[in-house]
Amino acid sequence: MRQATGVSCANIALVKYWGNRDRALRLPANSSLSMNLASLTTTTTVEFRDDLASDVVTIDDVEAQGSARERVVAHLDRVRALASINAKACVVSHNNFPAGTGLASSASAFAALTVAACAAAGLALSTDELSRLARRGSGSACRSVPGGFVLWDACDEDDCSFGRTIAPADHWDLRDVIAIVESAHKATGSTEGHALADSSPLQAARVASTPPRLEQDALAMHAVMMTSAPPLFYWRPATLAVMRAVRAWRADGLAVAFTIDAGPNVHCLCPAESASKVETLVRARSLRSAGVERVLTSSVGGPAHLAPRR
Ligand code: DP6
Repeated sequence: MRQATGVSCANIALVKYWGNRDRALRLPANSSLSMNLASLTTTTTVEFRDDLASDVVTIDDVEAQGSARERVVAHLDRVRALASINAKACVVSHNNFPAGTGLASSASAFAALTVAACAAAGLALSTDELSRLARRGSGSACRSVPGGFVLWDACDEDDCSFGRTIAPADHWDLRDVIAIVESAHKATGSTEGHALADSSPLQAARVASTPPRLEQDALAMHAVMMTSAPPLFYWRPATLAVMRAVRAWRADGLAVAFTIDAGPNVHCLCPAESASKVETLVRARSLRSAGVERVLTSSVGGPAHLAPRR
Protein backbone atom coordinates (compact mmCIF):
# COMPACT_ATOMS: atom_id res chain seq x y z
CA MET A 1 0.00 0.00 0.00
CA ARG A 2 1.33 3.47 -0.86
CA GLN A 3 -1.52 5.47 0.60
CA ALA A 4 -3.44 5.13 3.86
CA THR A 5 -5.63 7.23 6.13
CA GLY A 6 -5.39 7.12 9.93
CA VAL A 7 -7.91 8.46 12.43
CA SER A 8 -7.06 9.18 16.05
CA CYS A 9 -8.70 10.75 19.10
CA ALA A 10 -7.04 13.40 21.22
CA ASN A 11 -6.62 12.45 24.87
CA ILE A 12 -6.84 14.26 28.18
CA ALA A 13 -4.28 13.34 30.84
CA LEU A 14 -5.61 12.50 34.30
CA VAL A 15 -2.05 12.09 35.59
CA LYS A 16 0.24 14.34 33.59
CA TYR A 17 3.32 13.78 31.47
CA TRP A 18 5.55 16.74 32.22
CA GLY A 19 9.32 16.54 31.82
CA ASN A 20 11.51 14.00 30.01
CA ARG A 21 14.33 11.81 31.26
CA ASP A 22 15.50 11.47 27.68
CA ARG A 23 14.48 14.34 25.45
CA ALA A 24 15.51 12.82 22.12
CA LEU A 25 13.66 9.56 22.78
CA ARG A 26 10.83 11.26 24.68
CA LEU A 27 11.18 8.96 27.69
CA PRO A 28 9.03 10.64 30.34
CA ALA A 29 10.00 11.65 33.86
CA ASN A 30 6.90 9.93 35.26
CA SER A 31 4.10 7.56 34.29
CA SER A 32 0.90 9.17 33.06
CA LEU A 33 -2.72 8.17 32.62
CA SER A 34 -5.26 9.51 30.13
CA MET A 35 -8.59 8.96 28.51
CA ASN A 36 -9.20 9.30 24.78
CA LEU A 37 -11.70 11.94 23.68
CA ALA A 38 -14.18 10.56 21.14
CA SER A 39 -15.33 13.97 19.87
CA LEU A 40 -11.86 15.35 19.13
CA THR A 41 -10.25 13.54 16.23
CA THR A 42 -7.52 14.02 13.65
CA THR A 43 -7.75 12.31 10.25
CA THR A 44 -4.49 12.08 8.30
CA THR A 45 -3.79 10.68 4.85
CA VAL A 46 -0.22 9.77 3.91
CA GLU A 47 0.80 8.91 0.37
CA PHE A 48 4.38 7.94 -0.50
CA ARG A 49 5.16 9.11 -4.04
CA ASP A 50 8.22 8.64 -6.20
CA ASP A 51 7.60 11.93 -8.04
CA LEU A 52 8.05 14.16 -4.98
CA ALA A 53 11.36 15.91 -4.28
CA SER A 54 10.39 16.68 -0.67
CA ASP A 55 7.60 15.96 1.79
CA VAL A 56 4.49 18.15 1.47
CA VAL A 57 2.47 18.58 4.68
CA THR A 58 -0.96 20.23 4.78
CA ILE A 59 -2.71 20.76 8.11
CA ASP A 60 -6.30 22.05 8.12
CA ASP A 61 -5.92 23.24 4.51
CA VAL A 62 -2.74 25.23 5.15
CA GLU A 63 0.67 24.02 3.96
CA ALA A 64 2.90 23.56 7.03
CA GLN A 65 6.23 25.38 7.11
CA GLY A 66 9.17 25.66 9.48
CA SER A 67 9.31 23.69 12.70
CA ALA A 68 5.76 22.26 12.36
CA ARG A 69 6.71 20.72 8.99
CA GLU A 70 10.14 19.59 10.22
CA ARG A 71 8.59 17.70 13.09
CA VAL A 72 6.35 15.76 10.68
CA VAL A 73 9.26 15.15 8.29
CA ALA A 74 11.38 13.78 11.18
CA HIS A 75 8.56 11.38 12.00
CA LEU A 76 8.21 10.28 8.36
CA ASP A 77 11.98 9.67 8.39
CA ARG A 78 11.52 7.24 11.31
CA VAL A 79 8.86 5.36 9.33
CA ARG A 80 10.99 5.38 6.15
CA ALA A 81 13.95 3.98 8.09
CA LEU A 82 11.83 1.16 9.51
CA ALA A 83 10.35 0.33 6.09
CA SER A 84 13.62 0.83 4.18
CA ILE A 85 12.02 3.20 1.67
CA ASN A 86 13.12 6.59 0.38
CA ALA A 87 9.99 7.98 -1.27
CA LYS A 88 8.80 11.38 -0.10
CA ALA A 89 5.24 11.75 1.14
CA CYS A 90 2.21 13.93 0.70
CA VAL A 91 0.52 14.34 4.12
CA VAL A 92 -2.95 15.86 4.46
CA SER A 93 -4.33 16.25 7.98
CA HIS A 94 -7.65 17.55 9.29
CA ASN A 95 -8.80 18.16 12.86
CA ASN A 96 -12.54 17.83 13.48
CA PHE A 97 -12.41 20.11 16.49
CA PRO A 98 -12.90 23.70 15.50
CA ALA A 99 -9.71 25.52 14.60
CA GLY A 100 -8.74 28.22 17.05
CA THR A 101 -10.14 26.52 20.14
CA GLY A 102 -6.75 26.19 21.75
CA LEU A 103 -7.21 22.40 21.62
CA ALA A 104 -4.96 21.63 18.65
CA SER A 105 -3.43 18.42 19.79
CA SER A 106 -0.08 16.93 18.92
CA ALA A 107 -1.34 13.68 20.48
CA SER A 108 -4.07 12.97 17.92
CA ALA A 109 -1.88 14.41 15.15
CA PHE A 110 1.10 12.10 15.71
CA ALA A 111 -1.05 9.04 16.51
CA ALA A 112 -2.98 9.43 13.22
CA LEU A 113 0.24 10.19 11.30
CA THR A 114 1.95 7.08 12.72
CA VAL A 115 -0.94 4.74 11.88
CA ALA A 116 -1.33 6.18 8.37
CA ALA A 117 2.38 6.41 7.50
CA CYS A 118 3.16 2.88 8.70
CA ALA A 119 0.30 1.38 6.68
CA ALA A 120 1.22 3.45 3.60
CA ALA A 121 4.82 2.25 3.93
CA GLY A 122 3.68 -1.38 4.10
CA LEU A 123 4.66 -1.88 7.75
CA ALA A 124 2.44 -4.16 9.84
CA LEU A 125 3.14 -3.08 13.42
CA SER A 126 1.33 -4.12 16.59
CA THR A 127 -0.57 -1.54 18.67
CA ASP A 128 2.30 -1.52 21.18
CA GLU A 129 4.84 -0.88 18.41
CA LEU A 130 2.69 1.86 16.86
CA SER A 131 2.31 3.52 20.26
CA ARG A 132 6.06 3.36 20.87
CA LEU A 133 6.74 4.93 17.50
CA ALA A 134 4.06 7.64 17.97
CA ARG A 135 5.79 8.56 21.25
CA ARG A 136 8.86 9.66 19.31
CA GLY A 137 6.75 12.25 17.44
CA SER A 138 4.92 13.55 20.52
CA GLY A 139 5.01 11.93 23.94
CA SER A 140 1.29 12.13 24.62
CA ALA A 141 0.57 10.62 21.16
CA CYS A 142 1.56 7.19 22.49
CA ARG A 143 -1.55 7.35 24.70
CA SER A 144 -3.84 8.06 21.71
CA VAL A 145 -2.87 4.87 19.84
CA PRO A 146 -4.62 2.35 22.12
CA GLY A 147 -8.26 3.02 23.10
CA GLY A 148 -10.16 4.04 26.21
CA PHE A 149 -8.21 4.66 29.42
CA VAL A 150 -4.49 4.41 28.77
CA LEU A 151 -1.44 4.12 31.04
CA TRP A 152 1.97 5.20 29.76
CA ASP A 153 4.36 3.52 32.12
CA ALA A 154 7.61 5.39 32.68
CA CYS A 155 10.33 2.88 32.04
CA ASP A 156 13.99 3.41 31.33
CA GLU A 157 14.11 1.95 27.84
CA ASP A 158 12.67 2.81 24.47
CA ASP A 159 11.26 -0.74 24.07
CA CYS A 160 8.95 -0.64 27.06
CA SER A 161 7.83 3.01 26.88
CA PHE A 162 4.38 3.03 25.26
CA GLY A 163 0.70 3.37 26.12
CA ARG A 164 -1.42 0.40 27.13
CA THR A 165 -5.20 0.26 27.55
CA ILE A 166 -6.02 -0.40 31.19
CA ALA A 167 -9.79 -0.17 30.63
CA PRO A 168 -11.76 0.04 27.37
CA ALA A 169 -13.79 3.12 26.42
CA ASP A 170 -17.06 1.61 27.68
CA HIS A 171 -15.59 0.76 31.08
CA TRP A 172 -16.64 4.08 32.59
CA ASP A 173 -19.08 6.41 30.86
CA LEU A 174 -17.27 9.64 31.65
CA ARG A 175 -17.66 12.95 29.87
CA ASP A 176 -15.19 15.77 29.42
CA VAL A 177 -16.97 19.13 29.37
CA ILE A 178 -14.28 21.49 28.12
CA ALA A 179 -14.51 25.16 29.06
CA ILE A 180 -12.62 27.02 26.36
CA VAL A 181 -11.37 30.25 27.82
CA GLU A 182 -8.80 31.14 25.20
CA SER A 183 -8.51 30.18 21.56
CA ALA A 184 -5.12 31.62 20.71
CA HIS A 185 -2.11 29.40 20.02
CA LYS A 186 0.04 29.18 23.12
CA ALA A 187 3.29 31.11 23.14
CA THR A 188 5.29 28.25 24.67
CA GLY A 189 4.54 24.76 23.41
CA SER A 190 4.77 21.55 25.43
CA THR A 191 8.09 20.50 23.93
CA GLU A 192 9.82 23.63 25.25
CA GLY A 193 7.88 23.31 28.50
CA HIS A 194 9.08 19.73 29.11
CA ALA A 195 12.65 20.96 28.66
CA LEU A 196 12.13 23.59 31.39
CA ALA A 197 10.54 21.24 33.92
CA ASP A 198 13.78 20.35 35.70
CA SER A 199 14.54 24.03 36.29
CA SER A 200 11.70 24.07 38.82
CA PRO A 201 12.62 22.97 42.35
CA LEU A 202 9.15 21.43 42.54
CA GLN A 203 9.58 18.97 39.64
CA ALA A 204 11.62 16.41 41.61
CA ALA A 205 9.03 16.43 44.39
CA ARG A 206 6.18 16.13 41.88
CA VAL A 207 7.80 13.18 40.10
CA ALA A 208 8.75 11.49 43.37
CA SER A 209 5.22 11.67 44.70
CA THR A 210 3.43 11.03 41.35
CA PRO A 211 0.26 12.50 42.79
CA PRO A 212 -2.53 10.01 42.39
CA ARG A 213 -5.38 12.47 42.36
CA LEU A 214 -6.62 14.23 39.31
CA GLU A 215 -6.80 17.87 40.34
CA GLN A 216 -3.75 17.50 42.53
CA ASP A 217 -1.56 16.47 39.62
CA ALA A 218 -2.85 19.17 37.27
CA LEU A 219 -2.11 21.74 39.98
CA ALA A 220 1.32 20.18 40.73
CA MET A 221 2.19 20.34 37.01
CA HIS A 222 1.13 23.98 36.78
CA ALA A 223 3.10 24.72 39.98
CA VAL A 224 6.18 23.25 38.22
CA MET A 225 5.43 25.36 35.15
CA MET A 226 5.06 28.55 37.19
CA THR A 227 8.32 27.89 39.04
CA SER A 228 10.38 26.92 35.98
CA ALA A 229 13.07 29.31 34.79
CA PRO A 230 11.70 31.16 32.87
CA PRO A 231 8.26 30.60 34.39
CA LEU A 232 5.31 29.48 32.27
CA PHE A 233 1.91 30.96 33.11
CA TYR A 234 -0.80 29.23 31.11
CA TRP A 235 -3.76 30.24 33.29
CA ARG A 236 -6.09 33.12 32.53
CA PRO A 237 -8.47 34.67 35.05
CA ALA A 238 -11.27 32.52 33.59
CA THR A 239 -9.20 29.36 34.22
CA LEU A 240 -9.25 30.11 37.93
CA ALA A 241 -12.93 31.08 37.82
CA VAL A 242 -13.87 27.69 36.35
CA MET A 243 -11.63 25.78 38.79
CA ARG A 244 -13.21 27.55 41.76
CA ALA A 245 -16.70 26.95 40.35
CA VAL A 246 -16.03 23.22 39.91
CA ARG A 247 -14.93 22.94 43.54
CA ALA A 248 -18.07 24.74 44.68
CA TRP A 249 -20.32 22.48 42.55
CA ARG A 250 -18.62 19.43 44.03
CA ALA A 251 -19.07 20.74 47.54
CA ASP A 252 -22.78 20.99 46.64
CA GLY A 253 -22.82 17.28 45.76
CA LEU A 254 -22.25 17.31 41.97
CA ALA A 255 -19.77 14.63 40.79
CA VAL A 256 -17.26 16.69 38.81
CA ALA A 257 -13.50 17.33 38.88
CA PHE A 258 -11.27 19.49 36.72
CA THR A 259 -7.96 19.06 34.97
CA ILE A 260 -5.88 21.36 32.75
CA ASP A 261 -3.17 20.60 30.18
CA ALA A 262 -0.48 22.99 28.94
CA GLY A 263 -2.96 25.77 28.26
CA PRO A 264 -5.70 27.81 29.92
CA ASN A 265 -8.74 25.67 29.04
CA VAL A 266 -10.39 23.69 31.83
CA HIS A 267 -11.54 20.09 31.34
CA CYS A 268 -14.45 19.25 33.66
CA LEU A 269 -14.71 15.48 34.03
CA CYS A 270 -17.96 13.98 35.18
CA PRO A 271 -20.14 10.87 34.83
CA ALA A 272 -22.42 10.92 31.75
CA GLU A 273 -25.51 11.53 33.87
CA SER A 274 -24.12 14.83 35.21
CA ALA A 275 -22.81 16.09 31.85
CA SER A 276 -25.80 18.21 30.83
CA LYS A 277 -25.93 19.82 34.29
CA VAL A 278 -22.18 20.55 34.14
CA GLU A 279 -22.54 21.97 30.61
CA THR A 280 -25.34 24.29 31.74
CA LEU A 281 -23.28 25.46 34.70
CA VAL A 282 -20.16 26.06 32.58
CA ARG A 283 -22.25 28.07 30.09
CA ALA A 284 -23.82 30.19 32.86
CA ARG A 285 -23.63 33.94 32.48
CA SER A 286 -21.23 34.40 35.41
CA LEU A 287 -18.61 32.12 33.80
CA ARG A 288 -19.22 33.54 30.33
CA SER A 289 -18.54 37.01 31.64
CA ALA A 290 -15.45 35.65 33.43
CA GLY A 291 -14.16 34.58 29.99
CA VAL A 292 -15.57 31.17 29.00
CA GLU A 293 -15.91 31.50 25.22
CA ARG A 294 -17.38 28.12 24.28
CA VAL A 295 -17.99 24.63 25.58
CA LEU A 296 -17.21 21.29 23.92
CA THR A 297 -18.25 17.93 25.38
CA SER A 298 -16.70 14.54 24.63
CA SER A 299 -17.24 10.96 25.71
CA VAL A 300 -14.41 8.39 25.99
CA GLY A 301 -12.86 7.42 22.65
CA GLY A 302 -11.50 4.24 21.11
CA PRO A 303 -8.13 3.43 19.54
CA ALA A 304 -6.44 5.04 16.55
CA HIS A 305 -7.34 3.12 13.40
CA LEU A 306 -7.14 3.07 9.63
CA ALA A 307 -10.05 4.53 7.72
CA PRO A 308 -11.60 2.13 5.20
CA ARG A 309 -10.21 2.64 1.68
CA ARG A 310 -12.56 4.43 -0.69
C1 DP6 B 1 0.42 19.11 29.52
O1 DP6 B 1 2.94 15.29 24.39
O2 DP6 B 1 2.37 17.69 23.83
O3 DP6 B 1 -0.65 17.84 27.80
O4 DP6 B 1 6.21 15.23 23.62
O5 DP6 B 1 6.83 17.60 23.34
O6 DP6 B 1 4.92 16.66 22.02
P1 DP6 B 1 5.71 16.61 23.30
O7 DP6 B 1 4.72 17.05 24.45
P2 DP6 B 1 3.19 16.73 24.62
O8 DP6 B 1 3.00 17.05 26.17
C2 DP6 B 1 1.75 16.93 26.79
C3 DP6 B 1 1.75 17.70 28.03
C4 DP6 B 1 0.41 17.81 28.73
C5 DP6 B 1 0.20 16.68 29.73
C6 DP6 B 1 -0.15 15.34 29.17
O9 DP6 B 1 -0.81 15.24 28.11
O10 DP6 B 1 0.20 14.35 29.84
